[in-house]
Amino acid sequence: MEKKRYAKPQAISREELEKALLSANEELSRANEKLKQQERERREFLRNLSHDLRAPMTALSSTIGLLREKKDMDETERMELLSLMDRRLKNLKSMLDEIFLLGQMDNPEQVLEVETIDAGMLLEEFFYSCEADVKFSERELSLKLPKDFSCMVCVDPQRIVRVLDNLFSNALRYSRAGDLIELSAKEETEKLLISVRDTGVGILPEDLPHVFERSFRADASRTPGDGGHGLGLAIARSIMERHGGTIWCESKPGVGSTFFLELPKAEES
Ligand SMILES: Nc1ncnc2c1ncn2[C@@H]1O[C@H](COP(=O)(O)OP(=O)(O)OP(=O)(O)O)[C@@H](O)[C@H]1O
Ligand SMILES: [Mg+2]
Repeated sequence: MEKKRYAKPQAISREELEKALLSANEELSRANEKLKQQERERREFLRNLSHDLRAPMTALSSTIGLLREKKDMDETERMELLSLMDRRLKNLKSMLDEIFLLGQMDNPEQVLEVETIDAGMLLEEFFYSCEADVKFSERELSLKLPKDFSCMVCVDPQRIVRVLDNLFSNALRYSRAGDLIELSAKEETEKLLISVRDTGVGILPEDLPHVFERSFRADASRTPGDGGHGLGLAIARSIMERHGGTIWCESKPGVGSTFFLELPKAEES
C-alpha cells in the first residue's frame, strides 16, 4: 500500500501568533462597537418614532374635533381643513412606508431581486425621469458620465433607484433656486463609483457623522422647505450594505454636499 505523504506543518513563531491574535481581537472589538452603536441607534429611533407618530395623529384628531363641533363653518374653511388632514395623512403614510422598507432591508431573510445590468443605462434612465419632475424647481440638473459609459453591476435595480431617489430629493429639498444637482459615475478597478452633488445649504461638520442614523434631521431652521422623516439616508445605507456596497458624504455648509455610492462590479462570466 502506498504511504500517504503529508506536508510538514510550518511552525508559527510566537510573534506571528501574537500578531494574529491581536488583529483578531481588534476586529472583534470593532464588530462589538458597531453592534453597540446599532443598538443605541435602534433605541433612539424607537423613542423618536413614538413622538413622530403621535404628533400628526394628535393634530388629526383635533382637526376632526373642530370639524365636528363648529357647525357654522363655511365651505372654504371646511375644505381647507380637509386638505390639511389629507396632507397629514399622506405624510403619515409615507413615513410608514419608509419604516416598512427599513424593516425589510434590516431583515437578512428578505431577498433582493438582483439582476446583472448596465449601470450606465440605469443612471441615464433615472436621470431623465427626474428631469421631468425637477423641471419646475428652478434647479440646474447635470449628468456627467464618461463617453459611452457602460459598467455591469449585479443589483436589485428598484432598490438602487430608491437610493438615488432619496439622494435627489434631498439635494432638491436642501438647496435653493439656481443651485446645481449633478449625477456622475466612474468605473474603478473592481468598483463602480456614483456621486450625487448639490450646491445647496450643506451640512454642519458636527451633523455630518449622524446623517445616516435613523430619524436624524439637522436643525430644521437651517433646512429650507418641508422637513422629512430623517429615514431616507438610513434606508439608503441599509440598501447599499445589502449590496456589499457603501455610502458616504462630504459636505461644507453654504457650499454643498456630495453623496458617494460605491458598488462592486459584476464578475465577468
Ligand atoms: N443634500 C443634503 N444637503 C443638506 N443636508 C442634507 C442633505 N441630505 C441630507 N441632509 C441632512 O441629513 C438629514 C437626514 O437625511 P434623510 O434623507 O435621512 O432624511 P430626510 O430627508 O430629512 O427625510 P426622509 O428622507 O425620510 O423624507 C436631513 O434631515 C438633512 O438634515
Ligand atoms: Mg431624505
